Amino acid sequence: MQKLLSSLGPVCAIIGAQWGDEGKGKVIDLLAEHFDVVARACGGANAGHTIVVNGKKHVFHLLPSGALHPHATVVIGGGLVLHLPTLLEEIRTLREAGIDVLPRLFISEEAHILFEFHKAIDGMLEEQRAAKRGKGIGTTRRGIGPAYMDKAARLGIRMGSLAGDLTAELSLRADMVKRMYGVEVKQAEELQHLSEARALLAGRVVDTVGLLHRLLGEGKMLLIEGAQATLLDLDHGTYPFVTSSSTTAAGALQGLGLPPRCLTSCIGVAKAYCTRVGEGEFLTEVQGPTGDRLRERGGEYGATTGRPRRCGWLHLPDLQRAAQINGYTHWNITKLDVLDEEETIPVGIGVTPEGRLKEEKLPGWKQSTEGITSFEKLPRAAQHYLSFIEKHTGVPVSLIGTGQERGAMIIRG
Ligand code: GDP
Ligand code: IMO
Ligand code: MG
Repeated sequence: MQKLLSSLGPVCAIIGAQWGDEGKGKVIDLLAEHFDVVARACGGANAGHTIVVNGKKHVFHLLPSGALHPHATVVIGGGLVLHLPTLLEEIRTLREAGIDVLPRLFISEEAHILFEFHKAIDGMLEEQRAAKRGKGIGTTRRGIGPAYMDKAARLGIRMGSLAGDLTAELSLRADMVKRMYGVEVKQAEELQHLSEARALLAGRVVDTVGLLHRLLGEGKMLLIEGAQATLLDLDHGTYPFVTSSSTTAAGALQGLGLPPRCLTSCIGVAKAYCTRVGEGEFLTEVQGPTGDRLRERGGEYGATTGRPRRCGWLHLPDLQRAAQINGYTHWNITKLDVLDEEETIPVGIGVTPEGRLKEEKLPGWKQSTEGITSFEKLPRAAQHYLSFIEKHTGVPVSLIGTGQERGAMIIRG
């Protein structure tokens, strides 16, 4: 671990390479022990980051996954859209588990408040898309798109105004929302949520840009938690089947108000295969018994919506592109153990001019890798599979996930 940590340097970002749910939460939790500050940079409660410690499962939607470590300063950056009841619930759940995050939690004044009406608009837009195009995006219906729409339209309400009375502003928004979308804003319910958040979060909403720069100036180590992933990025993902935020390393820096040159490393997280929730292209998707086997072995059901995830194989050009966009310095390949029963493992290596997928078939290993913590103990074929990814992306595979538990990870170097 020490060797890995010194190669990461003081500011490390963890960024998904696929369509999300790669296992970012687990690696953040593992590394957070060695960092002083953990910061979520973008997205909202569409994220679901799962951590398993001694058989107990913790799922984070808004708080950074490093929050489980009592020494860590926890930052929620300005790039987020915050559904306050979800945040309060997460703080409460952690407290019930014996972890008090509040005294070390800092929320950006620039983060936008995501209201119940954003969720209603999200659902309505999905139904309109389904009626027009036959299918929606398959959003999480957490109101993400509409909250970022308000932000871009300069109509949003930010955390910085939480301390004041928002009755008049909300009433103005309610009129507009009614006229534009025909959605009735439940003002009393929204105001109730605001008042509960105001009470609990008093003193926790600050200038996190200034705070982060001060902490970095003091030599503190910062772990940046990306949410969603590169193929869901608003610009670089599989548009329009994407989320509404910038999910790349650059987006994470923007969401926290940090300059590009401060990043000393960026860990790309990718499953040893691939999954997607929601609609949109997925060239290497496999259906039928093989897809079902991957889903069952990998427990591929959404942490936020419970939806079954679509499953398939790696597509190398996507990993290469993600490595370019994010400047990955290390890979964390997760869920290697899920492939333990496969006879052969196809990998997408490109597309023919006629649009047909080109595949290479790699040998499987047909033995358990679960819980293995050293590279040398992996079966030869598994080592070869990881080297293949390394060779074709030019990024070293430094962390390898071999199970759900915190300790089920190979750390190289
Ligand atoms: P995230 O959104 O990227 O944090 O990923 P999720 O938490 O949504 O989904 C990843 C799932 O895979 C979670 O249930 C994790 O507990 C689980 N997981 C993570 N790493 C591994 C691994 O190496 N092996 C296995 N079997 N499960 C893993
Ligand atoms: P984490 O951080 C997987 C997907 C949704 C949908 C699309 C748009 O856990 O990896 P949205 O609600 O954001 O407007 O939905 O993006 N999506 C995710 N898929 N993991 C996530 O987050 C996701 N966040 C959004 O399923 O296809
Ligand atoms: Mg997830």
